[in-house]
Amino acid sequence: MEIRSDFGRRAFLRRGGLLLAVSLAGCAHPMKPAKDEGKEGTGISPPEDLMREHGVLRRILLIYEESIRRIDTDEALPLDSVADASGIIHDFVENYHEKLEEDFLFPRFKKAGTLTDLVNVLTKQHNAGKRLTKTTLSASEKKGPLSPEDRSRLKESMHRFIRMYRPHASREDTVLFPEFRKIVPPREFEELGEEFEEREDKAFGKDGFFKVVGRVEMIEKRLGIFDLQEFTPVSVL
Ligand SMILES: [Fe+2]
Ligand SMILES: [Fe+2]
Repeated sequence: MEIRSDFGRRAFLRRGGLLLAVSLAGCAHPMKPAKDEGKEGTGISPPEDLMREHGVLRRILLIYEESIRRIDTDEALPLDSVADASGIIHDFVENYHEKLEEDFLFPRFKKAGTLTDLVNVLTKQHNAGKRLTKTTLSASEKKGPLSPEDRSRLKESMHRFIRMYRPHASREDTVLFPEFRKIVPPREFEELGEEFEEREDKAFGKDGFFKVVGRVEMIEKRLGIFDLQEFTPVSVL
């Protein structure tokens, strides 16, 4: 099986991902919100903010699935795509999104004595996810063709990540986040939404979320899974 890699590009994307996001501040993007939507104009609640971040996570799970399919069918797999996708998981999902959950949500549930068992499981899964991402990153950054052992390690780490994060994000969306609204006073809830937006801008530049989505789209295009219409089952139309 041929697994192609572009190390210069990959190194740029991995090391400069955050810088890229910052340096592109002000560049037009088709999905970018209206110009005057500042931190007080977005009106995005904490759950909505976290759920759209789950949207980014789910799109990366699709990238991992396509990568596994290519490994299974001996199709060329550009390793820089996997490295870039797992880099976004590392920078955006683990170091940003999960940190918000751990700093602002989980302690409030513990203090309220609500859903504490669920919070314990979610915390353990964050830690397990970080270990899997470390494996995915190191396997996808190898120089030269991957050995059969490396291929199977890469495939296994992506597979286990997908298996854990689908139920993880779904449980947060349907159980944790709806309950969060109930345990936080309205004023504090609103302020947290603003706090999340400010942190996002600080970490990824203004409209940082849309820049991250743009990076995900680039990977999808490289792997030929960007066109949504391709997912429609034509036979039932
Ligand atoms: Fe989480
Ligand atoms: Fe989450």
